Amino acid sequence: MNAIENNHLLLVDDETDFRAPLKKRLGKRGFIILEAGNGDECQKVMADAPVDVVVLDVKMPGMSGIEVLEWIRENYQNTEVILLTGHASASDGVEGIKKGAFDYLTKPVEFEHLVQKIGQAVEKRRREQEKKQEAEFKARMEQQMITTERLASLGTLSTGIAHEIDNPLAIIKESAEYMRILLNKEEHAQLPRKPDFENAIGKIETAIERAKRITHQLLGFVRKPETFFTQTDLKVLVAETVEFAGKEAENKGIKIVRDVEKANGVIWSDPYEIRQVLFNLLTNAIAAVGSDGTITVSLKDTDSRVMFSVEDTGEGIPKENLEKIFEPFFTTKPPGKGTGLGLYVTCGIINRLGGKIDITSRVGKGTRFSVTLPRTHKACESMGDNKNICVDILNRIKGDPAK
Ligand SMILES: Nc1ncnc2c1ncn2[C@@H]1O[C@H](COP(=O)(O)OP(=O)(O)OP(=O)(O)O)[C@@H](O)[C@H]1O
Ligand SMILES: [Mg+2]
Repeated sequence: MNAIENNHLLLVDDETDFRAPLKKRLGKRGFIILEAGNGDECQKVMADAPVDVVVLDVKMPGMSGIEVLEWIRENYQNTEVILLTGHASASDGVEGIKKGAFDYLTKPVEFEHLVQKIGQAVEKRRREQEKKQEAEFKARMEQQMITTERLASLGTLSTGIAHEIDNPLAIIKESAEYMRILLNKEEHAQLPRKPDFENAIGKIETAIERAKRITHQLLGFVRKPETFFTQTDLKVLVAETVEFAGKEAENKGIKIVRDVEKANGVIWSDPYEIRQVLFNLLTNAIAAVGSDGTITVSLKDTDSRVMFSVEDTGEGIPKENLEKIFEPFFTTKPPGKGTGLGLYVTCGIINRLGGKIDITSRVGKGTRFSVTLPRTHKACESMGDNKNICVDILNRIKGDPAK
């Protein structure tokens, strides 16, 4: 297809005798022609339809061509304008160029010359759009890198802290156990307010358990490639995880649907880590649904990749939280209920396995987490740039109509 074909061209000229034949001839060259007899009409046409290039007469009753040009520059930065000036008023054309016109031609216009000018304007517009798209792509990639690096540095920091906390935690735990032993001794049988002491020790023990859960999740995350690759059957893993979480779901009136039968699902990966991912996604989905809803776990595959998704009919994730849910300790659960580490750990595992995770969510409707994994090590390499990028921000933003 010719580069100028299907471009929307707006002819703005008060002389119908000039416009009509021009419209016919330019139409034959493949342009989509729109017309306006003055500045006001031009504004109306541009409000209703996209316009790539405006061919604009300078001398018109009402708004002058220069005024219309100023209005176009202000409101439609991407539209190019070619001015048509009178024979004796080339200075209008020069002024027009200063005000942002692509170029000007003097009337009477030589048709081929006009077509050539329009072609150049279209080409300029195309180049600028390409530049803009490239800049947007670069900005998105940079944002993606920032998120990945941020997660990595947060990981280093939080696992460092976890190491540091683990030792004092062990001492507190032992001391609490020792206090319990002492309290249970015969000599303390009549200790005043003994139940209060027991109660306080119980609280210390519960808090230690919670803190330990956090440090273990984090340390597990950093315990690098003990990742154990072997033949892994995703159908089996899905069945196991669904069964494991099924009781809780059933109690809450949540139906778990499995859509795995059409897939092959056997890959070269780490079954323990995938089970953890499935479990984290499924428990999150159960929490998000709350009660009476559906969770669908599906499995699809191609020759080189396998994709599984966990989709729920739960509360959805507001846009402002989508950027945060993979950060360690981000949780919207009430204090004491969630560690905020489930997705952080999930993200680390998927990175290690050479996969990626995408999210689609609608507030009030539900959420789908989709995980793509390479079928073999070789496929893992061919996933190229995505290999170490857990969150595909591009897809996430594209796929997220959350308002
Ligand atoms: N399927 C989902 N639907 C809605 N929100 C979700 C879903 N999955 C995760 N989230 C949001 O992401 C947050 C972080 O999830 P993550 O699994 O990391 O931690 P958590 O579930 O809060 O805690 P834990 O995993 O320790 O129970 C959740 O608190 C919730 O706000
Ligand atoms: Mg969770």
